[in-house]
Amino acid sequence: VSFPLGDQVTVEQLTLDSHPVLAMLRETEPVSWLPALSGWLVTRHDLARQVMREDELFTVDDPRFSTAQVVGPSMLSLDGRAHSRHRGPFASAFRPAQVRGRFAPFVEETVARLIERIRPAGTAELRRELAGPLSVAVIAESLGMADADPGMIMDWYAAIVAGVSAISAGQPLPDEAGSAFAQLQKAVRQDLACPAADSMLAAAAMPPYELAVTEIVSNAAVLMFGGIDTTEGMIANLVVHALTEPARWQILLLDPGLIPVAVEESLRLEPTAAVVDRYATADTELAGARIAAGDLVIVSIAGANRDPAVFTEPNEFRLDRTNLRLQLAFATGPHFCLGMDLARLQARTVLTQLLDALPGLRLDPDHPSPARGLVFRKPTEVRVRWDPTE
Ligand code: HEM
Repeated sequence: VSFPLGDQVTVEQLTLDSHPVLAMLRETEPVSWLPALSGWLVTRHDLARQVMREDELFTVDDPRFSTAQVVGPSMLSLDGRAHSRHRGPFASAFRPAQVRGRFAPFVEETVARLIERIRPAGTAELRRELAGPLSVAVIAESLGMADADPGMIMDWYAAIVAGVSAISAGQPLPDEAGSAFAQLQKAVRQDLACPAADSMLAAAAMPPYELAVTEIVSNAAVLMFGGIDTTEGMIANLVVHALTEPARWQILLLDPGLIPVAVEESLRLEPTAAVVDRYATADTELAGARIAAGDLVIVSIAGANRDPAVFTEPNEFRLDRTNLRLQLAFATGPHFCLGMDLARLQARTVLTQLLDALPGLRLDPDHPSPARGLVFRKPTEVRVRWDPTE
């Protein structure tokens, strides 16, 4: 079988304007070999779901997985029982009841504080002035590092991300990544030595999980890796979607009950984590494609989320969909996003408070904000204006 469309696809296309190309692939080559990615790309909703759910056949546990090369084995890079052991202690801290009780007041206060800071100006870049600092503060709070300097946490994070990018590009691990990781390790050890009553990290060290310190550090790094860029991007995409049509913003002002729907629809249209990687553990066939043991299989969540077989008028932002629970922005199967309730809380809180606090909020027409990116998709900046009040 040949894949004439897949043959032609470039990384640039997928980074800049991916949706038309994903639509073409989905229609005729729903599992296609892409030389540009050295892997298979899965763009149909049913097949994407199947690959993410069948973790024995499509594993994350492979030495090529770049994040694991930087942070060590963690929930993100293990399957089966080892995965449950690593994920278990953190999962309980992010359950809906915990999110409502422990995080909601923190998120509300943080969003209010960040908006208060920009409010007098009448103009702002919401990615760096709101979405970014919020996502960092929430992760720091969840890790018990709320008192740490957010700038320092951002530096660690940036160094770890740079490390993952270097490894993905076949380069050696930069020194900064190693030293950031060492500093994170020190902070985690300090927390474990003298934990707060609700310390998630300390709970992971205790029965029934009994993770070793190095394992806790790896999972803490994965929480940072999984929860900062993604959340920042989710909020940036949401603000752009909500403001693109002034009528849409008016609808949300009149009926704030639609805010959760707007959040899901935005996640469907532009899932910030556009792809997830798996490795085939055996030869297999998927929609006519012959996948060999060891092949990289990339699930296009962005492709699956616009599958017309599931979502009518898939390229339209609509607030009247009744099947949004089928959108896959937070993945599915054993690795479904651990932070999804916390992420949703942040997105809803931001939208609620923006609607309340900034009258006449609109996108700055001089600075368009298209989403871009191969793995993490978001606008580089979200410049907005509003009518400043006293
Ligand atoms: C508070 C914010 C967040 C936290 C703490 C968080 C944390 C995590 C963690 C720890 C995992 C790995 C779970 C495992 O392997 O068992 C994960 C998976 C995932 N997260 Fe999140 N996340 C957050 C926000 C988001 C957002 C906003 C998105 C996208 C819009 C997202 C998309 C995903 C996806 C697609 C996966 C699956 C990865 C895979 O299967 O390979 N996450 N998340």
